[in-house]
Amino acid sequence: MQITRKVTDDLYWVGANEHRLHLFENIHPIPRGVSYNAYLLLDEKTCLFDTVDWAGARQFLENIDGVLAGRPLDYLLINHLEPDHAASIDEILVRHPETVVISNEKAFMLMHQFGFHIDGENRTFEVAEGDTFSFGKHTVTFVSAPMVHWPEAMVTLDVTNGVLFSADAFGTFGAIDGHLFADEVPFKEEWLDDARRYLVNIVGKYGPHVQALLAKAGTVLDLIKIVCPLHGPVWRADENLLWFIGKYDQWSKYEPEEKGVLIIYASMYGNTEAAAMNFASKLSERGFHNYKVYDVSSNHVSYLIAETFKYSHVVLASVTYNLGIFPPMMDYLYDMKALNLQKRTFAVIENGSWAPQAGDLIEEYLNNEMKEMTVLSNRVTVNSSVNESSNRELDELAEAVIDSVNEA
Ligand code: FEO
Repeated sequence: MQITRKVTDDLYWVGANEHRLHLFENIHPIPRGVSYNAYLLLDEKTCLFDTVDWAGARQFLENIDGVLAGRPLDYLLINHLEPDHAASIDEILVRHPETVVISNEKAFMLMHQFGFHIDGENRTFEVAEGDTFSFGKHTVTFVSAPMVHWPEAMVTLDVTNGVLFSADAFGTFGAIDGHLFADEVPFKEEWLDDARRYLVNIVGKYGPHVQALLAKAGTVLDLIKIVCPLHGPVWRADENLLWFIGKYDQWSKYEPEEKGVLIIYASMYGNTEAAAMNFASKLSERGFHNYKVYDVSSNHVSYLIAETFKYSHVVLASVTYNLGIFPPMMDYLYDMKALNLQKRTFAVIENGSWAPQAGDLIEEYLNNEMKEMTVLSNRVTVNSSVNESSNRELDELAEAVIDSVNEA
């Protein structure tokens, strides 16, 4: 059965929603699902913008058949070749031998690598940044968006009506389930956290490339009327889109959204957890409430990374394990580095019953492996459990963190 939505008079959402997959990219939990968006233009020529993950292919193919209603599919335009969007290319080409694939040189190279059957006379049409292509009434132009999120990625602007096909940019986790536009859902209240988690975990490493794309978009911002990403809702050009672009700008510049404190603890038997909770209560006692506390062992690292992009300050409380950092805490540190996160202020609480090492090792990692990280000097060392002396030090640390937040 066809499940589609009209984006404009002659452009249809023909994608699919995913609820059965637990892990996006087999790594990031998606409890709210995800959508794979594809769009079909019915002009004098028909053009499909991107495909979907194999998991959504059945719905996607039914949608295309329904919207085409017997018309040929003249073109398949590929903006991004990651398989969550490109997996169904072959299925389209088998079903539509008339279809010509439009994309760029790198994308065609990757299509060959993935084994897609794009060979054949006049089966492909290569484009580059700045080229234009007309489907009849609609003319599109191409803008390269390297590393947002793969090197071949590009975005396509319909200069006739201002629809921007933005590939992964402005996407989010979360299935849209019949909704289409961002103004049809409580985006700020219920979607922003997943949008942040999507962007910073998928493209966080490539902040400068996102900045480059935002700069290009800025030059044609007044032309853009609708933004069609490959995941999540479609954006109309209004103040909400400008707000969302502002979020992208902050995330890709590694600037915190909020002056606040993220407390992440690694605890084996509850004593380091107690130290972290003790510290949190000391913040509250002093009237400071904009903090969140997470157990590194029971929260997927993608959530911790997203929260770290959000807040200005991070307090890490870690037990010493095998004379090192507790492994889940190490994974979190490693992921922060891999995603290029920078410009945060940290404080450290360490625990060790006979040879506390975690504090030195965390501080070394932050100072030597990462960029523009500040570590407050008021480290607290706990020996097995908080005592009178370390309790006093936690008071001093709470004062220092609040002062630092207020100065930020
Ligand atoms: Fe949604 Fe980079 O693929």
